[in-house]
Amino acid sequence: MWLILLGVVIFLYILLHILIPKKYNSLKAEWEVLKIPGPRRIPYFGNAHLFFVPNEEFLPVLDKLVKQYEPIFRVDFLGYLTIFCMDATQLEIILNSRKHITKSDDYEVIKPWLGTGLLTATKKKWFDHRKWLTPAFHFGILEQYIDIINKNANTLVEQLMAFSKDDYVSINPIITLCTLDIICETAMGTVVDAQRGGEKEYVKATLRMSQIFQIRQLTPYLHWDWIFKITSTGREHEKWLKVLHGFTKRVIQERKKAYKENQKLKNSEVEFSDVGEKKKISFLDLLIEMSEKENKMTEEEIREEVDTFMFEGHDTTSAALCWTLFELGSNPDIQEKAYQELQEIFGDSDRQPTNSDLAEMKYLERVIKETLRLYPSVPVISRRLEEEIKIKDYVFPAGTYTPIFIYKIHRDPRFYPDPEKFDPDRFLPEKIQGRHPYSYIPFSAGPRNCIGQRFALMEEKVILSQVLRKFQITSLDKKEDIKMMAELILRPKDNLRIVFKPRQR
Ligand code: HEM
Repeated sequence: MWLILLGVVIFLYILLHILIPKKYNSLKAEWEVLKIPGPRRIPYFGNAHLFFVPNEEFLPVLDKLVKQYEPIFRVDFLGYLTIFCMDATQLEIILNSRKHITKSDDYEVIKPWLGTGLLTATKKKWFDHRKWLTPAFHFGILEQYIDIINKNANTLVEQLMAFSKDDYVSINPIITLCTLDIICETAMGTVVDAQRGGEKEYVKATLRMSQIFQIRQLTPYLHWDWIFKITSTGREHEKWLKVLHGFTKRVIQERKKAYKENQKLKNSEVEFSDVGEKKKISFLDLLIEMSEKENKMTEEEIREEVDTFMFEGHDTTSAALCWTLFELGSNPDIQEKAYQELQEIFGDSDRQPTNSDLAEMKYLERVIKETLRLYPSVPVISRRLEEEIKIKDYVFPAGTYTPIFIYKIHRDPRFYPDPEKFDPDRFLPEKIQGRHPYSYIPFSAGPRNCIGQRFALMEEKVILSQVLRKFQITSLDKKEDIKMMAELILRPKDNLRIVFKPRQR
């Protein structure tokens, strides 16, 4: 009897050892990390049991840990040693470093789709690609996208006008289709017309893939590839992956062909812009030009980057827009101020915003910034330390994970008194002065910050200004009732409900 029991214990021990191998380098590393305050650990599982909660409980669990142990605490999640650092001044050491640029294993779930594009790449590949891609986000290049953004914002306004007879609009899916249209046209130069039901398979694949990431991230046993692959979610993942890659590859080949034909025209001394309407250059066109002229990127690397822009460039902006509409609909006085600013810029004219109009939208910009403070689209990011670092009296060994809990850092009362209050004037120039720059990091910070932040701000201003000029909006949901899901993207558990009342002119 005792022998059987002993056998079972040894078997379980070996099984756990295989299934949950420790992800850190040495016992010394573990010893150092254990000097950092944190909750008690269960052998092998560490503190994982604390996080086996419904998704909407994830933020409250983290919040509790922060309150109990801040500013620095450790969590052991299934063999991953993780150190949270909540202090803006200390964060700078990690985020500003050119050494600690490797992302943690949390990002593995997105690699089948994005490969090692800019978001997930590290070391030389990341340095090279970041250098090559930065010019594609130059102000002069971004400016030309305003027409595409305006066109798709007009479609959104049409859709909202049609829905305005309803009691309310569940805005999240509608806004996502709009931002998807915008990123497809700007990143790939391809119109998918998601808002009007176009390119159904590709649109469905993009939307469903984001959901599958969330499911996988939050279901521990799905982290193991071999288990994931045999589940129905894993098989669905394979199916959509084929659709996504098939579409991007087809578009790349078409644009490559078009590029070569244009080159032929150029060689025969006919200027590109002389041929019919002046063409907008997409990010993809710039990547193709780079690979054709300078042989910098392979076709697979171009595919990875385009897919990365597709993923990073639509869900993040959609979430930010939805939360901004929610706050504007909950704060009529703030909405009125934003509207008055638009009245001063446009008067009664129906014209589309230009780039110089966007520069005038100072109050709207503060509204957007304050929204991203309270609802950072990416609530947590994470790095794996390449080398040991010391912060305060603690050693963070090489190989440990350092999640950066942006959502909570933005609520530090030392920098944001009454942190839950929505107050755009926190971003008046005189208020920003003297605040630690790392106390506000919705686009991360340092060398791996968001390459698309100017694009995002431009897109948000165009869409919000178009919507606010046409509608008075009211949020039906109360902030205290909203359950927030800190997934890859910060979303409400249920779609936000907003009433759109057309403005009388
Ligand atoms: C409100 C909108 C957006 C927010 C809040 C946001 C936020 C972020 C954050 C926090 C990161 C760092 C991620 C990490 O370290 O894991 C990031 C990286 C990135 N973002 Fe954005 N983003 C937004 C819009 C966009 C758009 C529109 C694009 C593309 C057009 C984009 C492209 C990227 C890329 C490629 C990276 C990786 C950069 C690198 O590692 O070098 N983002 N973004």
